[in-house]
Amino acid sequence: MIQVKSINTPTVFVIFGITGDLSRRKLLPALFDLHQKGFLPTTFRIIGIGRSTYTDEAFRAYVHDVIAEKHGHNVDTKAFVSCIHYQRGDFTDAHAYRDIAQRLIAIDDTIGQCTNKLFYLAIAPVHYKGVLINLAHSGLTIPCSSDTGWTRVLIEKPFGSNITTAAELDVLLGRLFREEQIFRIDHYLAKETIQNILTFRFSNTLFEPTWNARYIERIEMTLAEQIDVGTRGAFYDGIGALRDVGQNHMLQTIATLMMDHPGTLDAAAIRRERTAILERMAIRLPLTENVVRAQYDGYRNVDGVAPDSQTETFFRITFEVNAQRWRGVPITITSGKALACKYTEVKVFFAEAVPCFCAHTHKEHRHQNIITFRIQPHEGIDMTFFAKRPGLGGDIEPRQFSFDYRETYNISEPDAYEKVLFDCIRGDQTLFASTAEVMATWRFVTPILEAWHALPLHIYASGSTPEEIITHNVRKH
Ligand code: BG6
Repeated sequence: MIQVKSINTPTVFVIFGITGDLSRRKLLPALFDLHQKGFLPTTFRIIGIGRSTYTDEAFRAYVHDVIAEKHGHNVDTKAFVSCIHYQRGDFTDAHAYRDIAQRLIAIDDTIGQCTNKLFYLAIAPVHYKGVLINLAHSGLTIPCSSDTGWTRVLIEKPFGSNITTAAELDVLLGRLFREEQIFRIDHYLAKETIQNILTFRFSNTLFEPTWNARYIERIEMTLAEQIDVGTRGAFYDGIGALRDVGQNHMLQTIATLMMDHPGTLDAAAIRRERTAILERMAIRLPLTENVVRAQYDGYRNVDGVAPDSQTETFFRITFEVNAQRWRGVPITITSGKALACKYTEVKVFFAEAVPCFCAHTHKEHRHQNIITFRIQPHEGIDMTFFAKRPGLGGDIEPRQFSFDYRETYNISEPDAYEKVLFDCIRGDQTLFASTAEVMATWRFVTPILEAWHALPLHIYASGSTPEEIITHNVRKH
């Protein structure tokens, strides 16, 4: 995971859904930035597949505008866009794959080599099955030579919508591709601040001895978003916050925080330890006391949302990890859209020292160390500790050690999608979810999804904080 060796074999990126939101906001800017930094193979091509009509020239102008949104209109994109081709095609139609195959053969002929092929499914999940079958049946994913030219498939979450559909998708993937060809993206795993949780834990001797139920009282993660569902109503309705960010981003972050030492930096070892935590997650009962679901006022008026929708845009869940090391430690995950502000953080609350050298003058402070991983924005780590106030009295007060990425490094960290694409080219699966991880998260989440319709769906005003939602709606019941 740590060596940063790039691979320089000519590579073709085939992106299904090139004119969609994900490609515009994330993929094209990430590919451009990788190219600028010299992290793409020297020879590469991008074939964008979409339903709209574009010539290569018109599409290159579109890509320039997309890049200019991030880097300004004077940005020089000439070298980058000259490697982009557009292929009009309906990816549900088997014939489209013949056209793609011809384009790929032509590109390999021009380059004079059997190139690597990376197929990115930046499309709505309803199309996954059709595209995967067509890809496999068309022979496109068979390498063009026995010793060069790998083929890999990148697929975005959600991987299914419950344990049954996830298992179906998995069986299909397993039938069509080998595990080392499949890269299931969870962009949270690729965030610099999440990767740093592992470094923080395993590259320092200070924390690991106390990283257990004896010293840690509770863990809380919040993923708060200020944006509402915007134009994504049709996708989001029926999915909801727990499937959208809970089942994947949040559980994977918690697994990273709680996993045992993997022994090596090997992808398989790290994924195995994350899986061991994910498989032991268990909801606290009764559900009524450990699960909250809510919806922001106005959600039902969004385009594509049912007028009587019961989809949650906010949830809070408290659970445990049934492992000796973590027995009895409550873990709370909270997420919502249309909240007061955007931030993601994980807080680890330590137990009070026993016996405690505690001051009684500061009743408002529990004598508790807290480590806060600020995932975004204001990326960093804070540690609350207690110090004696200078003077003749015995006042003890909370103070903070803080580490701030931006102040320290004065550079913006790479976008998670740069990391995702870079690791896929290198074939490093550490930061991608394995079959076992995906199935474990669905095993945990599916019973909650099935049972929580019996719980009230609270309505909250846009711009609320998570605490306001809990206090106004839940505690008063
Ligand atoms: C995506 C969800 O996976 O993650 C979005 O589909 C959500 O609804 C996004 O907004 C949050 O990611 P980030 O990186 O902005 O915290």
